[in-house]
Amino acid sequence: MSNGKSNFVDVSGAAPRAQNMWPSIVVPKEAIAAEIEHLADLPRPINGRRASLIVHPEAVAPGLGLAPGIDVTINVLKPGEKTFNLRKNSTMVEICVCGSGVATVNGRATHVEKWDVWNTPSMQIHSYENTGDQIWVRLSYSNAPLLEKLEVHYVEEFEGIMPPADANTKRAQVDHASAARARDLATREQITEDGAWLLGYEWLIDVDVIESKSLHWPWAKVSTYLPSVEEFAKGYNGRRLFVLYNPATERRIGTTHSFFATISCSPPNNHHVPHRHSSSAINYYLRGCGYSQVGAERLEWKAGDLILSAPGWAMHSHHSKNESTSALTIQDHPLQIAMESLIWQERMQEPIITLGSQGGFESNRAQFVAAA
Ligand SMILES: [Fe+2]
Repeated sequence: MSNGKSNFVDVSGAAPRAQNMWPSIVVPKEAIAAEIEHLADLPRPINGRRASLIVHPEAVAPGLGLAPGIDVTINVLKPGEKTFNLRKNSTMVEICVCGSGVATVNGRATHVEKWDVWNTPSMQIHSYENTGDQIWVRLSYSNAPLLEKLEVHYVEEFEGIMPPADANTKRAQVDHASAARARDLATREQITEDGAWLLGYEWLIDVDVIESKSLHWPWAKVSTYLPSVEEFAKGYNGRRLFVLYNPATERRIGTTHSFFATISCSPPNNHHVPHRHSSSAINYYLRGCGYSQVGAERLEWKAGDLILSAPGWAMHSHHSKNESTSALTIQDHPLQIAMESLIWQERMQEPIITLGSQGGFESNRAQFVAAA
């Protein structure tokens, strides 16, 4: 309990704290199926949300997740069911894993089917309706654990179109198209040759806007691109995948401002060289089977399993067995680029690079493109 006074912790000469690297874990398909069944058997909750968080045993509230900064929720809707509206400042990537339904985000309804992926931007009102005749299941990944830890996760759930917090508010009318921006009148001075600047207050409260939209990557389209990845020449040392890229994330190459989602397609007996990164990765296997080597541990997986496949900074490699393998990977990579914390070691004999502020790594793609 706080006594209202600040305390001092003497850290003079102290060694850096050893990080608690969460062990990699596999959540088997069967456990996910049992939880789906449990959710479907519950009486319908008032807000319509049948949902279970998949929580890592090392997770500590607030902000329970499968990785320290990523939560994964199983969401179930029975035919005809609809959720309340939600508005929150966390962002989501979602994948439909069973059935179909309609996700409405910012007034726009999108019909989604098995293995379709979509994102939900911050503070856009969203809801879900099962318009099909079978159970609709989606996995949603969000950055809520980090916001919960920061004690700034803003969440409103409501019926109707007006968020309760907005009911008695009014925005000052400014014609943004024609009016000069107050920030253009504020101080804007470079004060050293190196590039240190001074900016007035208005620069803090009138940030340039990049439109943030809910985008939909239908499996019917994405899947047509996968053979080109799988058939890439043997000996290619990059990853056989596509990023589901949301242009609002610009150079941070994300699907949301916090996460990227990738869909991979590896041929049978494909083996990665071990590497590591400060971003955490969670894989959901769509097809195939194989194993991951994470530190000293070998974890077996198959289609339908969910795995914390790369705890941040854990050395890891993924290996397919005798089938083609596809996975949805979620990684908090764009967030870490924004924080300048994304350190990466692509091969153990190469140095640690801060991606985004130091030149990155090369794959050997050029030699295959030249040979084609
Ligand atoms: Fe990785």
